[in-house]
This record gives sequence, C-alpha cells and structure tokens, in this order.
Amino acid sequence: AILVSRRVKSRRKWSRVVGVLKELEEGCSTSIGRLKQVVDAMAVEMHAGLASEGGSKLKMLLTFVDNLPDGNEKGTYYALHLGGTNFRVLRVQLGGENSLILGHEVDRQPIPQHLMTSTSEGLFDFIVSKLEQFVEREGNGSMSMLDKRRELGFTFSFPVKQTSVSSGILIKWTKGFSIEDMIGKDVSECLQQAIRKRGLDMRVAALVNDTVGTLALGHYHDADTVAAVIIGTGTNACYVERTDSIIKCQGLLTKSGGMVVNMEWGNFWSTHLPRTSYDIDLDSDSPNPNDQGFEKMISGMYLGDIVRRVMLRMSKESDIFGDATSRLSVPFILKTPLMAAMHEDDSPDLKDVSRILKETLEISDVPLKVRKLIVRICDVVTRRAARLAAAGIVGILKKIGRDGSGGIMSGRTKSGETSSRKRRTVVAIEGGLYTSYSLFREYLNEAVAEILGEEMAPYVVLKVSEDGSGIGAALLAASHSYPSIGPVN
Ligand code: GLC
Repeated sequence: AILVSRRVKSRRKWSRVVGVLKELEEGCSTSIGRLKQVVDAMAVEMHAGLASEGGSKLKMLLTFVDNLPDGNEKGTYYALHLGGTNFRVLRVQLGGENSLILGHEVDRQPIPQHLMTSTSEGLFDFIVSKLEQFVEREGNGSMSMLDKRRELGFTFSFPVKQTSVSSGILIKWTKGFSIEDMIGKDVSECLQQAIRKRGLDMRVAALVNDTVGTLALGHYHDADTVAAVIIGTGTNACYVERTDSIIKCQGLLTKSGGMVVNMEWGNFWSTHLPRTSYDIDLDSDSPNPNDQGFEKMISGMYLGDIVRRVMLRMSKESDIFGDATSRLSVPFILKTPLMAAMHEDDSPDLKDVSRILKETLEISDVPLKVRKLIVRICDVVTRRAARLAAAGIVGILKKIGRDGSGGIMSGRTKSGETSSRKRRTVVAIEGGLYTSYSLFREYLNEAVAEILGEEMAPYVVLKVSEDGSGIGAALLAASHSYPSIGPVN
C-alpha cells in the first residue's frame, strides 16, 4: 500500500512538472501571427523614436556616421572594444583598395568582474594598460608604427548620445555594468584621459556602438549591407536611415542623405511580446528593472537564467531535482553557453546534460525523462528568443521598405534610381549567441524566411561579420581621421 501511494504521489508530481512545461510553452508561443505583430510594432516604434526625443522606448540614437567604408581605406589603425564579456584590442592593416584587409590581430581579455561595477578611472586604467601592452608587442617591419601617432576606433557597446562621430555621453549602463560616476560623461574623453596618463600617443578618431562597427565592416565587404544586428551578451541593431526621416533632427544634412541610427532595440517593448512570469521575475530581480525588456528575452546574458528559473519552479513543485532547490536559487548560476550545450547534446543518453547538471548544479542521477525535459525547456526559451530577434530584423526591413510588403517600396535610392520591389538586402550579424549556438541561428534564419515569405526571403541575406564590431571601428577611424595626421603606410 505504501508503494502504491508513493507511485501515485510521484505520478502527481510529474504531472505538475508537465503542467509547468505546458504553461511555459503556451507563454512563449511565437506563432507567425504574433511575430508579424511584433514586426509591425517594431516599425511603429522606430517611427516614434525618430519623430521626437523620448517618443518611444526605442532611443533611435544618431551616430554621426553618414558614410560607410567603401573598401578604399588605407593604413594601420587600432580599435578597442568594450561591452560584452570580453574586452578586445585590435590592430588592422587596410590595403587601400578592393576591401583588402592585409592583416588583423586581436587580443581578447575577460573583464574582471569587479571592474564592471567600479569607477570609470579603474575601468579605463585597466583598458589602457592592456592597450599599452598590445602596442608594445607591436611587430617590426611593415607593422612598425613608431614615431607615428596612432588612430583609434573605440567600440563602446552601450547607449551613447553622440556629440560627434568621435565623442558622446553615456546615457545608461546595460548588461550588468554599473559604474555610476560615468553616466553623463564623455566616453572618449574618459579614454583619452587614461591614454594621456600613460603617455601614449593615440587619438580616438571614432566612437561607435558595436552594431555600427559591424555595419561598417559588413558594408566594406558588401555594399548591399544596410543594417547590422548584435546577438551576444546583449542585443541591438542599427541601420541606415534617410536624414529626412529623422524628424527629431530637422535640418540634419549629410552628403550621402543618410545616417546610421543606433536603435538600442534591447529596450524595445510591445504588449505583443510573449512574456511569462519568469521574465517578470527576472526583470524585477535585475539591476535595471523595466529596462531592456526585449534584450532580457533574447540575449546571452539572460537565456540561461530564464531556464534556471523554470527549473527552480519545477523543483519546488516536485522532487525531480532532488534537493537542488538551493543551488537553483542562485541567480545566473546556469550560464547560457552551458544551457546551449545541454540543448545541443545529441548523444542518445544525453550525457552532456548529466555532466552539466552535476558540475554546475550538483544534481546527479537525473533520469533520462527529466534530462529530456530540460532539453525541452532550453528549446522553448531559445526558440522564442531567436524568433523574436527575427521579427525585430524584419521590422527594420519593413521600416526601410525592404520587406517586400509594398507601399513605401518605390522610394529613391542614394544614386537616384527608383528602387525595385526586390533588391538584395544584407544584414550583418555578430555576437556569440548567433555565431556559436547553431540551434539559435537555425531558428532565427528559419523565422526570418517564414515571416518574409517564399517570394521575398531569397532577397534578404544574413551575413556573419566576424570581429566586425572591432574591425569596423578601425575602418571608421580610418575614414574619419584627418589625412594630414593620419598614419600613412
Ligand atoms: C546592449 C547595449 C547596446 C549594445 C548591445 C549589444 O543592448 O545597450 O548598446 O549594442 O548590448 O552589445
């Protein structure tokens, strides 16, 4: 009788777990109809953000980049990239024609956690010390830049109100960074000060968001590139907008008639987004509640933690994870790369899932049925993220008339010719979530095609632009540095 009652209890518990999964699946549903609503909402918010300052949660920030690299940039340039889990220093040698990059070197360093919440001085002293070491290791011969002032592109992947192509003020932090004294400060000036302190002869020639760097490199290689998306620790997009559509800046004139706009789409919000109780809790526990809502459903910083929250709930409703409730209560204990590894475990007995559960959560002897359940949770969370990002991308295409939906399709292009309904459109993509997580990438690509429809999909190309944000900043430094003092090779 005891055995029977145990079995009944355990069946009841399992059905509760299945109930939690069902509820999650329903809450995360991204039917094509819903995705199209997100597409429309994105396009509408873009209009609103361009119409007036504060007109939308989308900031639609001006970048002062009105010309993208065309392949003729020449010389050796440096770039610094700060914004995700890693910090990067780069040196790029540009050939001067045919989009030829003669060589590039990258140095990656993890950012010590304590510097993300320290002072601006602490952070910038660290960055410049790494920069100095990199410059000191400079090769000789053709790479030697001695006696020459070095021009630097600075990729700073946070929302910045630009005051020129090479300067701008930090609006707020995202992605877990929080250095209060920097908000409102000129980012380039902070870097330049630290550079001076070290006695380096370098000048910040371009200050760009990572999306803008990615767009620059994308365009350098392929002139049909009109937008760029980052899906890594955080998520964001930028694209080329016509200046006459940037209503909030009337009278803005550029030679090209266009300007790159940094959307800061991580902060996008719409009631059409499929939001669950896990998202609500994650948001209220975060250092920036009510902020970056889209980012919190999509990017690498958060996906693992959404899965952890679902598992925690299941573990409270049943005993499927033994006594792991306390480990599962630790925020961010399950990092997205581990979640991805569980999701992509293709061994028949899901041994990676077992290993990861044991190593990170100290849960052992999990039956196969439960391991399968975990894979399913990862799938639901990642699929929703990828499909929402896809809807965001199509939203941009819609705004610029490249989604094939007609109406504004017959706008004029830069060179004056009327655009055909179907022009090849390239979107440059960067970020670890997209480049290193195949299932995420597949879901995203599939959803873009699904939303666009068979006829239009072949005209839209998503292209990975590796190290694009850093190399792109070097390219923008090249196209925006003064020829008289810029390095000539
Ligand atoms: C965050 C930042 C944004 C950046 C993105 C990707 O959303 O606010 O500026 O582009 O992360 O790194």
